[in-house]
Amino acid sequence: MSSDPSESIESVLNEERVFDPSPDVADEARISSLSQYKMMVDQAREDPEKFWGEAARKELHWFEPFNQVLDWSNPPFAKWFSGGKTNISFNCLDRQIQNGNGDKEAIIWEGEPGEIRRFTYKQLHQEVCRAANALKDLGLGKGDLVALYMPMVPEAAIAMLACARIGAPHSVVFGGFSSEALRDRLIDGEAKAVITADGGYRKDKVIELKSAVDLALANNACPSVKSVLVVQRTNESIDMQTGRDHWWHDLVPSQSDFCSAEHMDSEDRLFVLYTSGSTGKPKGVVHTTAGYNLWAHLTFQWIFDIRDDDIYWCTADVGWITGHSYIVYGPLSNGATSVMYEGVPRPSNPGAFWEVIEKHKVSIFYTAPTAIRAFMKNGRSLPDKYNMNSLRLLGTVGEPINPEAWMWYREVIGGNRCPVIDTWWQTETGGVMISPLPGATPTKPGSATFPLPGIEADVVNANGETVPTGEGGYLVIRKPWPGMMRTVHGNEKRFRESYWEYLRPTGGNLIYFAGDGARRDSDGYFWVMGRVDDVINVSGHRLGTMEIESALVSHPAVSEAAVVGRPDDLKGESVVAFVTLEGTSSASDHLINDLRNHVGNEIGAIAKPDEIRFSDALPKTRSGKIMRRILRSLAAGNDISGDTSTLEDRSVLDKLRN
Ligand code: WTA
Repeated sequence: MSSDPSESIESVLNEERVFDPSPDVADEARISSLSQYKMMVDQAREDPEKFWGEAARKELHWFEPFNQVLDWSNPPFAKWFSGGKTNISFNCLDRQIQNGNGDKEAIIWEGEPGEIRRFTYKQLHQEVCRAANALKDLGLGKGDLVALYMPMVPEAAIAMLACARIGAPHSVVFGGFSSEALRDRLIDGEAKAVITADGGYRKDKVIELKSAVDLALANNACPSVKSVLVVQRTNESIDMQTGRDHWWHDLVPSQSDFCSAEHMDSEDRLFVLYTSGSTGKPKGVVHTTAGYNLWAHLTFQWIFDIRDDDIYWCTADVGWITGHSYIVYGPLSNGATSVMYEGVPRPSNPGAFWEVIEKHKVSIFYTAPTAIRAFMKNGRSLPDKYNMNSLRLLGTVGEPINPEAWMWYREVIGGNRCPVIDTWWQTETGGVMISPLPGATPTKPGSATFPLPGIEADVVNANGETVPTGEGGYLVIRKPWPGMMRTVHGNEKRFRESYWEYLRPTGGNLIYFAGDGARRDSDGYFWVMGRVDDVINVSGHRLGTMEIESALVSHPAVSEAAVVGRPDDLKGESVVAFVTLEGTSSASDHLINDLRNHVGNEIGAIAKPDEIRFSDALPKTRSGKIMRRILRSLAAGNDISGDTSTLEDRSVLDKLRN
């Protein structure tokens, strides 16, 4: 990747390689030609309510039918499938058994140390029912928010489905977040219970989870939390607080394996998932029952053209939206077999991914560009040792993929026969928005190609006007879609302002701003260029620069901090912090270490700055705003270009250069 973003934009826009869907993929595919895709786009555009209404009736089970497809009378607050009653856990389990999939494997799980557990749809149904009954025994029910802070074990998926079954919204917090970050989310969501484990395995080390929960709850910091359910995974000794803490193995296995699914209103909350934005603390993205279910279901079916005998594997963690939509809900709602793997490639097993593909005969593999770039750096000799003939489709998600990594993925992992499906989407969109369809879309390395049917994506200027071909602009969605987030938990104003009022189109119609920049080429292909706000994307993980800054200034030695992203060949971006110190503190390696650990404690290891630079002052405008543009150039080692006339004290620049 080039360190100058404008150079890489030019090179991708000049990308001339095109890969047509191979006839054997296209022949059997549900959507098997570009003209069929375009027909669907036209149908959805002409009569969106008919398009979505028919899809919802055909693809989901309803306890009671809906009487309105979309209520957009109070934008941007959408109501989809009003009056309908359904349950996503029923759609993922009971309906699959009714359809004859009871003995098909739903989840194949492999732990980092190598143990394997398999669950057929019938077995998963029983486990979920037992867990749901246990949650009820703890006094939990419809509307009670349950937080999950879990390693990648089957119980994580079981707990999500159990919550959904009884109508308790879940809020999964990534196990790599610190106890401080967990506490913030428990308080914000007013969680009633936490489901966790003693610990989990990551890179041959034990990650302690229960002790972090104890810390988060200490001193009655989260009074709403009444119980903690603990899965035994690592057998570490942990403290159990009588009355509050319960072992999963004491409470769950003895329950009845039948629990009827709550009849949920279409718009009942299904989950809250926190993600970073450009301002303030992480926001709780709210998704609701029916629209999210339809979107996870339909997109999974479209983008992977799922077949009955597929073994599908997504390498994400259930703590992120990709894990929600494409490990748990999308695959299971389609009756697919989903592989769940606790491990990651590590020094003791660098070929872990390829080993899992070989062992379980994975046919669809979905991972992040960061992982691909890391493997690419070490050459093809490692993946070449494994038999990966079972693969038929490759997907990527989470960050822009550079054409070289795309080509390597296709050639080395996909043996030149598997289409590469680059999927653009976000926590807020619930599921994939822009992506090729394997049987229909000619792909270009580095492009997510076209919006899915029903998704009115565009590239616009600040007035909401479509920009000319080849020009950069804001990536927006012009029409509501079923999987859209419904609000920011507890903050409707923030929902409106950050997503729907950021751009003010002249016509007055609200448009959804995603936070990304993009261009379209002369064939109409979308090229997503990355965030244009103060969010950075490190190895596919979203981090708000403001969050890291407030973590840094909460350290006694720090007076002021500004955080920017720097292009990184491997991680996409790395975190660079500019810090000014309090009078008596002085810069040292020890302090750098201390500050990195401090950020680790406040947020989590993923947010630790890669580089910390100390300076006397930060470049600011006369109104006191930090000029991050200048810091970004400095961090990347570039000359400072563009207008610096608004800079208050120009001598700051010279100091920062040294
Ligand atoms: C980025 C992850 C380019 C983008 C599903 C977006 C991508 C953010 C792609 C959302 C892609 C995701 N190409 N950029 N294929 N996929 N992004 O909420 O900046 O963790 O806004 O959701 O990741 O990150 P989130």
